[in-house]
Amino acid sequence: MDIKAVSAQIDADIQGLNSPEALEQFRLKYLGRKGLLAELTSTIPGLPKEERAGFGQGVNTLKNKLLNLIEEKQKIFSGSCAGAAQATCDIGMPGMAQELGHLHPITRITDEICAIFSRMGFSIVEGPEIESEYNNFTGLNIPLEHPSREAFDTFYLKDYPKLLLRSHTSPVQVRQMQEQKPPLAIVVPGRVYRPDAVDASHSFMFHQVEGFMVDREIKFSDLKGILEMFAKAVFGSEIKMRFRPHFFPFTEPSAEVDISCIICKGKGCSVCGRKGWLEILGSGMIHPNVFKQLGIDAKKYTGFAFGMGIERIAMLKYGINDIRLFFENDLRFLRQF
Ligand code: PHE
Repeated sequence: MDIKAVSAQIDADIQGLNSPEALEQFRLKYLGRKGLLAELTSTIPGLPKEERAGFGQGVNTLKNKLLNLIEEKQKIFSGSCAGAAQATCDIGMPGMAQELGHLHPITRITDEICAIFSRMGFSIVEGPEIESEYNNFTGLNIPLEHPSREAFDTFYLKDYPKLLLRSHTSPVQVRQMQEQKPPLAIVVPGRVYRPDAVDASHSFMFHQVEGFMVDREIKFSDLKGILEMFAKAVFGSEIKMRFRPHFFPFTEPSAEVDISCIICKGKGCSVCGRKGWLEILGSGMIHPNVFKQLGIDAKKYTGFAFGMGIERIAMLKYGINDIRLFFENDLRFLRQF
């Protein structure tokens, strides 16, 4: 038996070796007390003197080779990454598919709404979700006794100074009019909070887009024109629009805006409550008291403002009947967009 033959045998044996038990058999066969290496070593004394050292070295090399092979196999069997990768990496195998995520429907519709106003020359601005009582109410001409100031309509955080979670995006009107001089054309997307019980059409947190324009000679007809462009861009050019008189403390006159029902085209169905119309937003001409408080000359400047619920727009556009679907992270729902 010579070294070369044993080395070739090792190479052959290691090939199909695929269990810890087989590895142990392999180890015993070569490195055991009666193994092949011991047998080789035992032949050394019978060799001619000048061959002994070289033969001994050859046996040692074989021993190291065996120890390395065994260690490598052990790593694979114990699941160690380096070994496992080496053993199982089959570059011909198809890769594991990575599922690509996508934007949340609320993000998508917010981007779409902002893009429409951006094309009409509005800039996009954001404001903080924690607001002062002044920005959320007082600066907007909302009187102290107004019910929306009650704790069951607004989340209060702190008493002195009074901080709250904004209940609408309108406080950003106050912030922007304090910061900048007219002309202003701004839209403000963002989260708002109200302590409503959660049901199919209410959530304690939802999203709004505020919009306002302030300049010399801004008229109600400008508001109508801009909102009509907006509604047709979102819901299609066939829809009709109507302004219904309403009341907001920070606009005068005020109006709620309806579009003709996109399901029944105005004939009356269960979605529009047989009215043929769907409310999409609140709007009006900015109240002179708001301008006065913020130091804007109400004789020189006029402006309009509007605010809409983004979930509502998305629900109408995509035919979604439960607001909770947006916030439950159910992939069966989210994957549809
Ligand atoms: N802030 C009002 C709301 O949340 C909406 C609105 C904004 C109405 C601007 C008029 C003008 O209900």
